[in-house]
Amino acid sequence: MAGNLRGRHFLKLLDFSPSEIRNLLSLSAALKANKRAGVRGRALEGKSIALIFEKPSTRTRCAFTVACVDEGAHPEYLGKGDIQLGKKETVADTARVLGRMFDGIQFRGFAHQTVETLAAHAGVPVWNGLTDTWHPTQILADLLTVSEEFGRLDGLALAYVGDGRNNMANSLMVGCAKLGMDVRIVAPGALHPDPGLVKTVEGICAETGGSVTVTADVARGVAGAHAVYTDVWASMGEEAKIAERVALLRPYKVTPEMMEATGRREAIFLHCLPAFHSLETEVARQFPDICEVSDEVFEGPRSRVFDEAENRLHTIKAVMVATLGR
Ligand code: CP
Ligand code: NVA
Repeated sequence: MAGNLRGRHFLKLLDFSPSEIRNLLSLSAALKANKRAGVRGRALEGKSIALIFEKPSTRTRCAFTVACVDEGAHPEYLGKGDIQLGKKETVADTARVLGRMFDGIQFRGFAHQTVETLAAHAGVPVWNGLTDTWHPTQILADLLTVSEEFGRLDGLALAYVGDGRNNMANSLMVGCAKLGMDVRIVAPGALHPDPGLVKTVEGICAETGGSVTVTADVARGVAGAHAVYTDVWASMGEEAKIAERVALLRPYKVTPEMMEATGRREAIFLHCLPAFHSLETEVARQFPDICEVSDEVFEGPRSRVFDEAENRLHTIKAVMVATLGR
């Protein structure tokens, strides 16, 4: 169903055509319906999958693990302290060893180059479960959630508000542009995306009919948005920058007033999670102004964040089935 993706890596959405992304979303929806109906898949039967994590994860790790088990594969978690990757052994050597034993490799970590190097040397499909630059599997879940809500993607407006140069902003810009959406990055000037990437995204929009706007003006950025999206203000690895980010991003916190400013009663709220929305976590108690979204929006009727989190499972399963499945 996902066309000809067998043997392909899944490293960033720039590598995929709009129809390939659409096909992955259709396959995700079909796998979701099967799971709901209690139909077990066997597309990955007999496969062994390596899950390498340099950074922590709840959703991505669990989605890969459950997706493997659902389709008959064996997942093996390889945490930061478990393997030599880049420490006593080059990434290329680890890739060649794992590629001799495993049928597919997931990598989550810091430098995007690491996942590219793994892919260049492993000889089996490699999937990016988040790097400092890209988070492509997350975008599939986001797009599936938006399309479930509105029945389409083409022409819909999504406003991403917050740190405009992180992995989520980068990936949303590309994913939304590829599917002909109107994507806005709403961030203070100091956190605007790389102009080179914006240019690339403008080129994509010229082909798909989508549009991209980068603005520091919240009212302009969210007007007419069907979905308002945010992410943490300091990503994994940026913990030392929390105070600086709070100072810069306070006016960009998603509040009920910001949701109203969309002018759309049907506008939804999205977040890749984990989110700071209350003072009920250790880090939020340490930095009480860290919340990028108010509890009222996060827990309110417009929030689709847990549908989105569930969709990580179905979309990650689709990526593995399409690139490796029978
Ligand atoms: N959204 C996301 O990637 O969540 P985790 O960090 O828990 O995997
Ligand atoms: N930008 C966040 C996304 C987490 C899913 C981070 O990299 O920490």
